[in-house]
Amino acid sequence: MSEKFIVKSRLRDYEVCFLEDINSTIEHYANINSFFIIDKRVMDLFGKQISCKLTGERTLIVEAVEQNKTLDYCTGLIQRLITANVRRDNCLIAIGGGIIQDITSFVSTILFRGIEWVFFPTTLLSQSDSCIGSKTSINLNEYKNLLGSFYPPSKVFIDINFLKTLPVGEIKSGIGEILHFYFNDGSRLAREMMDSYDNILKTPSLLEKYIKASLKIKKKIIEIDELDKNERNLFNYGHTFGHAIETISNYSVPHGQAVTLGMDIANFVSLRLGYLDKNVFEDMRKIMSRNLPTFRINEDMIDDYIRALSKDKKNMGNNLGCILTNGPGSMRKEYVPLNDELRDLILAYFRVNT
Ligand SMILES: NC(=O)c1ccc[n+]([C@@H]2O[C@H](COP(=O)([O-])OP(=O)(O)OC[C@H]3O[C@@H](n4cnc5c(N)ncnc54)[C@H](O)[C@@H]3O)[C@@H](O)[C@H]2O)c1
Repeated sequence: MSEKFIVKSRLRDYEVCFLEDINSTIEHYANINSFFIIDKRVMDLFGKQISCKLTGERTLIVEAVEQNKTLDYCTGLIQRLITANVRRDNCLIAIGGGIIQDITSFVSTILFRGIEWVFFPTTLLSQSDSCIGSKTSINLNEYKNLLGSFYPPSKVFIDINFLKTLPVGEIKSGIGEILHFYFNDGSRLAREMMDSYDNILKTPSLLEKYIKASLKIKKKIIEIDELDKNERNLFNYGHTFGHAIETISNYSVPHGQAVTLGMDIANFVSLRLGYLDKNVFEDMRKIMSRNLPTFRINEDMIDDYIRALSKDKKNMGNNLGCILTNGPGSMRKEYVPLNDELRDLILAYFRVNT
């Protein structure tokens, strides 16, 4: 049975529907002359199952790689859409994960000053997190997600069956993001989900309940602070320390697992600054332990890590803008001086915890 909810948004409210069979929905959009932007891998895996023919100039296949999240690539796509006679009342249909979402939503926000777009998320991260919240982002040179806007889809259709073919690393990455929402909200589901970790990795359809709960937590906050000026900032928990891990590991640590490590580092800093009780720290560590990557920082890498932290968009002067915690459900925005003390603290984290 399908299930749906509405997300309230500044520009337009939009519906999120859970579907068991997306064929007729895709066919509907094909019949009203929509344009499809599809992840190449998803097309290879699911193209035959989608009953209507997604071929011809209205179907644009895109490789889901960060190098395609650029202005140049988007300009090329827009050129192809114009050649195929796209009009302002047509709709762009994105089928893929966060990369396809970011490319399609960015193109949609600038083409004709805004054209409708619809999203079929196919990764765990995009189903449980990015499909709502309106952010559109592309990269500029080495700056990730620097260009973009807030531009919501008209509809989101979630089919859990897409997760069956997702590599296990992508599942672990999505689990990291879901955990971060649960810790933000103080949800008991964090423990429950991690208790069934092995089963979930084997049978990703078990994640449906956790995806819905994650979206519910995100919905509550983006409806009051869609533009990320206040409450939504708290979702950066784990992300400041995690992004810097992604940078110095040359993106070998998947995003959501870097976020898991980032949460543990944020918790350690919180513990040492006296915000977090040792027992709570240990308990949170235990819950997330199985999703922690093996990546470690040593003396030789610490300066690069601090340099990566110092480039964070949320910093103020020489202070690291980050989210620390008093425990699940109680996050706090802090500015921590980027000095030798923080450097030693992070080295201590990796010394104590390896
Ligand atoms: N706009 C936002 O709100 C937002 C939020 C978070 C992240 N992001 C962005 O999302 C991107 C990451 O997205 P992601 O983690 O969803 O993955 P992705 O789009 O990078 O895809 C990851 C890999 O999975 C493959 N894939 C996709 N669906 C599949 C399926 N069903 N079966 C098998 N393989 C499949 C892709 O081809 C790709 O190789 C980053 O660029 C990040 O910056 C955007």
